Amino acid sequence: MFKDQRKEKCKAAFGLPFVFSGFDLQLYSCGGGGDIVKEYLLNRRGKAMATQFERKASVEAIKSHFENDVERFSNLETGQKSIIDSPLAMDLVARSASGSTANIRRVLDIGCGAGNYTLKLLHYVASFHCDLLDLSRPMLEKAHERISAVNTGSVRLFQGDFRLIELEEAGYDVILAAAVLHHLRDDDDWAAAFRKIFRLTAPGGSVWISDLVSHETGPVQNLMEERYGVYLSTVGGEEYRARVFEDIDREDSPRPVPYQLDLLRKVGFDHVELLHKNSCFAVFGAIKIDYNK
Ligand SMILES: C[S@@+](CC[C@H](N)C(=O)[O-])C[C@H]1O[C@@H](n2cnc3c(N)ncnc32)[C@H](O)[C@@H]1O
Repeated sequence: MFKDQRKEKCKAAFGLPFVFSGFDLQLYSCGGGGDIVKEYLLNRRGKAMATQFERKASVEAIKSHFENDVERFSNLETGQKSIIDSPLAMDLVARSASGSTANIRRVLDIGCGAGNYTLKLLHYVASFHCDLLDLSRPMLEKAHERISAVNTGSVRLFQGDFRLIELEEAGYDVILAAAVLHHLRDDDDWAAAFRKIFRLTAPGGSVWISDLVSHETGPVQNLMEERYGVYLSTVGGEEYRARVFEDIDREDSPRPVPYQLDLLRKVGFDHVELLHKNSCFAVFGAIKIDYNK
């Protein structure tokens, strides 16, 4: 059923106003034969990470947030403390990338921040040419300083929105995207970004994603958010917990793991791998076979 027809049906069933959030749309997009009433009830329960794209932070606002936050992303030992299992995520990505793709010569780090994921990959691969891409100049400068201190390959910087920057097709053996794709908004945005990642991946190459994720159903979403809340309170107390949830509500529109794995296959990747999931965080990847070998 088309979105508008379903919207009308919802209006009739529940009366006005019915506000469609990103989370609703997400269920819509995978809806098919799903029952509209059940969907509505599920959606009502998944609150804190529910998204209304129109009220989410702009790219400019996201950029200025991160420009003032470089130090928080510059510790390789701890990773980001707001992310559950952050050091484990970095290690799993680095080891899976180095194990899955032979002869890594060119790496793209999308939303590189201060360069943690590329630095971790350099623990397992002696050196490579890397392109670091981020909205924020201070992040790029920090990443450049840290990576060029240990990497003998070239380090090029690209400042801007990943969706708009032109990069070499099939130009990368490994693509890293950590804590960045949750800024994508509607289905078209996600599909276009994943198609671009596929085009940029060289045959035999792989992409590795570590990110905040949502869930397909309200009760599970609430359970995972609750667990994340407990984690945040333990790490930084109640105020910290509230601040992180406010940031998520303002800036992020995460998608469930199955949605992203399906999309990776749909855009053309041959294999997908789920490396780790804990509460609202997941680590996964996809591999593009080199059919000439
Ligand atoms: C949460 S930080 C993660 C940094 C790093 N990947 C890490 O895991 O340590 C997200 C980074 O993505 C960047 N970013 C957000 N949206 C972006 C976009 N559309 N294009 C490029 N960079 C983006 C931000 O500027 C920020 O530095």
